[in-house]
Amino acid sequence: MKLNKNLVLVGMMGAGKSSLGQLLAKSLNFEHIDIDNIIENKTKMKISKIFKEKGETYFRNLEEKNTLQVLNENNCVISLGGGGFLNETIRSKIQKTSISIWLDWNHKTLINRIKRNNKRPIALNLSDNKQKNLIIRRSKIYSKADYKINCENTNKNELVKKIIKIYENI
Ligand code: S3P
Repeated sequence: MKLNKNLVLVGMMGAGKSSLGQLLAKSLNFEHIDIDNIIENKTKMKISKIFKEKGETYFRNLEEKNTLQVLNENNCVISLGGGGFLNETIRSKIQKTSISIWLDWNHKTLINRIKRNNKRPIALNLSDNKQKNLIIRRSKIYSKADYKINCENTNKNELVKKIIKIYENI
């Protein structure tokens, strides 16, 4: 099988990394790897429970270990957790091994999407303003991804087509 670089999706919670990742993997005939799922399967704990019972540092160590391991593969679509790309070790390995795509949205849309799901420990109890500041801070780092896709007003199938076009023209 031809060895192709991994395609890594980065961006905030609620950006659609997991669902788009699945669709992209299907279209490219790649394996889909969702880092949060890997961590939940290995620990047999939900992410929210890991944060609550073991703390964020414990989670971030697991995130780093598992992401670095997965990045040794080829022909995968990898959906990172929202904090994964902020880790310099992970980011520099992605830059060497993969093509990274930032799924970007307007702040307001992201805040509304995050609100629909109360299972995200990082966003829990954050006011809209604090969430906005978090998005602004993180966006500076997400912008280091190879490509940025503006996801507003674009349906999933169109997003998949856009990303595949980028990937296939590299
Ligand atoms: C996090 C995002 C979550 C998960 C964890 C931490 C973050 O993943 O990894 O709750 O720091 O942004 P999603 O982006 O898939 O929600």
